[in-house]
Amino acid sequence: MDYSDNETIRVLLERRTVRAYTDEPLSEEQLDLLTRCALWAPSARNRQSTHIRVVTDKALLDRLNRDFKDTVGWDTPAYTRWDVNPVYQTAPCMFFVFSDEDCGIDAGILVENIAIAAKAIGLDSCIIGSVGALFDGAFAAKWKKILKVGEKERFLLSIAVGHGAEAPAPKPRTEGRILHIISGEI
Ligand SMILES: Cc1cc2nc3c(=O)[nH]c(=O)nc-3n(C[C@H](O)[C@H](O)[C@H](O)COP(=O)(O)O)c2cc1C
Repeated sequence: MDYSDNETIRVLLERRTVRAYTDEPLSEEQLDLLTRCALWAPSARNRQSTHIRVVTDKALLDRLNRDFKDTVGWDTPAYTRWDVNPVYQTAPCMFFVFSDEDCGIDAGILVENIAIAAKAIGLDSCIIGSVGALFDGAFAAKWKKILKVGEKERFLLSIAVGHGAEAPAPKPRTEGRILHIISGEI
């Protein structure tokens, strides 16, 4: 059995990072589903110390992009398509993950849950780490206030989600990264 007709496997294998979106907003049901899938991600020692902020306001995302670019520089390739795209990659919705604990791996798993759930309901996504510079720079306090996160919380990861307006080709996976250890000297 090769499981190629399994819906979960298909979604996992067919997800791509998308960096062009339509203006169509996410519905309440979609937002609710994605946040629920985020909350059901596992966390080390079940600490559940990540906090999620969901931003769907275009004016806010545009302002965030301006402050981000004022932080890193307008001619700094801080992320892919930096010269033409805003840091939120033109998506109508962005999830930000913060914590006051050192739990970047929990954030990564949580964000992947959102990416896979989004793909499963016909949406696309782009995981975004580069925007973290905004929360370390001159505008950090301002944006923590706007996003209602505590001063001690650190940005961990974010993900933009929306209706994709492109279908990128798969990026080839590097060979030789897997070794099956069948037996070994004890
Ligand atoms: C932790 C993490 C951070 C990322 N940060 C960014 C980012 O800041 N900007 C961006 O355009 N893409 C970002 N990406 C997307 C990667 O570039 C993308 O996953 C990679 O090129 C592979 O493409 P694929 O997802 O289509 O397989 C990030 C991905 C991960 C896992």
